[in-house]
Amino acid sequence: MTTTLRDAHGQALSTTDRASLAAYEHALDLFHSFRTDPVAVLTPVLERDPGFVSGQLLMAGMLLTAFDGQLHGMAKACVDAAAASPQKANEREQSLIAALGAWSSGDALRANRLLGRHLIDHPRDLFALQLAHLGDLFLGHSFMLRDRVARSLTQWSADDKGYGYLLGMHAFGLEECNDYARAESVGRRAFELQPHDSWAVHAVAHVCEMQGRSADGIRWLKATQRHWATDCGMAVHNHWHLALMHMGSGEMEAALALYDDAVAPAPEAIALNLDDASALLWRFGLRGVDVSARWQALAARWRLQAAWGVSAFNDVHAVMALAAAGDDSAAKAGIAAIAEAAHGPAAQAAAAAAVALPAASALHAFAAGRYAQCVELLLPVLAASSPLGGSHAQRDLLHLTVIEAASRAGDRALVRAMGDERAARKAVVAARPARVEDHVAA
Ligand SMILES: [Fe+2]
Repeated sequence: MTTTLRDAHGQALSTTDRASLAAYEHALDLFHSFRTDPVAVLTPVLERDPGFVSGQLLMAGMLLTAFDGQLHGMAKACVDAAAASPQKANEREQSLIAALGAWSSGDALRANRLLGRHLIDHPRDLFALQLAHLGDLFLGHSFMLRDRVARSLTQWSADDKGYGYLLGMHAFGLEECNDYARAESVGRRAFELQPHDSWAVHAVAHVCEMQGRSADGIRWLKATQRHWATDCGMAVHNHWHLALMHMGSGEMEAALALYDDAVAPAPEAIALNLDDASALLWRFGLRGVDVSARWQALAARWRLQAAWGVSAFNDVHAVMALAAAGDDSAAKAGIAAIAEAAHGPAAQAAAAAAVALPAASALHAFAAGRYAQCVELLLPVLAASSPLGGSHAQRDLLHLTVIEAASRAGDRALVRAMGDERAARKAVVAARPARVEDHVAA
């Protein structure tokens, strides 16, 4: 089949079916803004047109960026269908087949490298950019969250459809590189261009979180809430951010209500949602709030959904819940699975060995009241925790745990040192721009 159609960003697709292309573009736009449900849009198209190469690749990418090992088999089937399609894949699609094939086979690092090269050759492939961007987050490649987007920015114009999504990603990358003023400016601009871009909203929320501007963050998220709180794949995570900001303001009841109403796993929750639930309950525990009943419910979900060895980040959050719920045998089994992953062939082996294994062991020790052991295991990890993946705000849980464990162990020198470290960090970022809510339409 000859390539005759292009998407809104000028990318060639090996299809002549305009109905398939229209559904693809609709699903892709939903994917870019994390709105639901692009899978539901694309599924009937692929049932009718299973040889639609770019459609199969979009489905695979959406499944893989859920970072849920239970979805890898479905993603691989999509990649295989794309590779076997009688509609011969063009060069761009073949490049994506190689990258997504590696990813669905468990080699996220190789996939990310292939996507990196792909984007140098195809800087306007917004789908590939989002895949690589989320891959950078998964792999803990903080600088690439910023720099990979920068490689493509000059190849776009502000008038191009989808340009706001590019800015949303760039804003988050700037934030993860501690460039808070630029991150907030770019994030606001992205939101102005496309208010439904929940990734841009999220980037500004991260700025507020990192600068300790809880009140600003609450105003920002509440003012933009109508765009992300329903029918959006970012709803749980942005509610998680909102709950953190309430905690930062000392409003524990409001934070707890957000857990119950918006973060506690819904029946359809994926691993990323369970990660947020674990991380929020753990922070309550650090603050001395009794959430034991909630831990029991969450641990039951992890026992069903943990896919050990696929994501070091997920694995640590699973052990967190199992240990906090008092399921010692399951927590130990999880730690053993991480140890196995650390010696395995997967791309995540290094992350498991260097970060996930000591971190999970430390959290298990904390839950058992072995605070000095927790400190001993976790303190060295803080210097290089990024391979765990996730954001600085998410990995801040490790710092907070060290502080609380040190306090409970009576290590006053360490509590003092960690407190000074945090104070210095906040002082550096204390300079702040204008009020964020000024940039939200009434
Ligand atoms: Fe976040």
